[in-house]
Amino acid sequence: MPFTPRVFSGIKPSGDLHLGNYLGAIRRFVPLQQTHETIYCVVDMHAITVWQEPEDLRRWTYEIAAAYIASGLDPNRSIIFNQSQVVEHAELGWIFNCVARVGWMARMTQFKDKAGSEGGENSEAVSLGLFAYPSLMAADILLYKATGVPVGEDQRQHLELTRDIAKKFNHDFRKQIKGLGLDEEFFPLTESMVTGPATRVMSLRDGKKKMSKSDASDMSTIYMMDGADTISKKIKKATTDPEPLPSEAQGLEGRAEAANLVAIYAALSDRSVDAVLDEYGGSGWGRFKPALADLAVSVLAPIATQMQRLVDDRAEMDRILGNGADRARAIAQPIMDDVRRIVGFVR
Ligand code: TYM
Repeated sequence: MPFTPRVFSGIKPSGDLHLGNYLGAIRRFVPLQQTHETIYCVVDMHAITVWQEPEDLRRWTYEIAAAYIASGLDPNRSIIFNQSQVVEHAELGWIFNCVARVGWMARMTQFKDKAGSEGGENSEAVSLGLFAYPSLMAADILLYKATGVPVGEDQRQHLELTRDIAKKFNHDFRKQIKGLGLDEEFFPLTESMVTGPATRVMSLRDGKKKMSKSDASDMSTIYMMDGADTISKKIKKATTDPEPLPSEAQGLEGRAEAANLVAIYAALSDRSVDAVLDEYGGSGWGRFKPALADLAVSVLAPIATQMQRLVDDRAEMDRILGNGADRARAIAQPIMDDVRRIVGFVR
């Protein structure tokens, strides 16, 4: 039996949402509502792999859910919820901890970056959860037998690992899966959906560094809740080179900062990089930056206003997240029932 085309993705409430999260993920979640069953999660259990002030965690959880809705996700169509309300994530995560291998986790570049690893003493001091993180991420996805996961470039390796875990589970338990009359490919080999011009939005100050929640310089990151003036100022002060824009994408090679700003423009206007360069090729920054600033404000300001309205209505947000969790559980529970029988847990 083919798998239902089902999309799952998640964002960690571990800091203020930024333009990278929006262009690499949230903006791309929206059209998938038309073609797929869509499940969008606020992955609070992932956030606590590093220390979070509980009050910040709560605030960011609401903020991400609000950003989903303000950006165009319809909570009646998409399932929107926070991970910790569906305990099956933790249960499947544990089972996957016993399927995945320590060596697989140790190779994850995000872990190595965060732990300052390669033998560094810091890797001993980080939480055990941070090390096991990709196995919980695989559980998030496979708990719903999701077939596609829209994410930014930085998550690609974690999705490869999700496929490895699915393959190993299907293989290790093939006798039991068959014995129960279930499909041999019990878990799907999920596809990563890393598409569009802005799968890796870079810092506005350094074109070689990814825009991230944890950048020390405020000027390098556009936050979703930034006001119009702040957005304009950050774009106008963005680092660039002295050359005018090229007329073709090839001319952006070796010009990381220029390529980043053009990619942002393309993603915000739903156009290709080539189409943007068709219009702006030959222009200097004095023309392009104000145009980009206007575009960014016209897209982001209404989202920020709507986000603020939603986060101020906690009763409504609780209702949406609670309802989303109920619907998520309804999909997850029968899958978890099968998993428990496959593994041999007595109920
Ligand atoms: P997180 O919270 O770091 O990022 C959320 C999403 O934003 C994308 N992203 C970017 N895209 C383009 N440019 C950037 N500079 C940029 N920064 C972040 C990320 O690629 C991601 O799509 N492990 C995940 C959360 C997670 C998850 C999941 C995702 C947990 N379980 C299951 C998908 C499916 C993370 O830390 O994302």
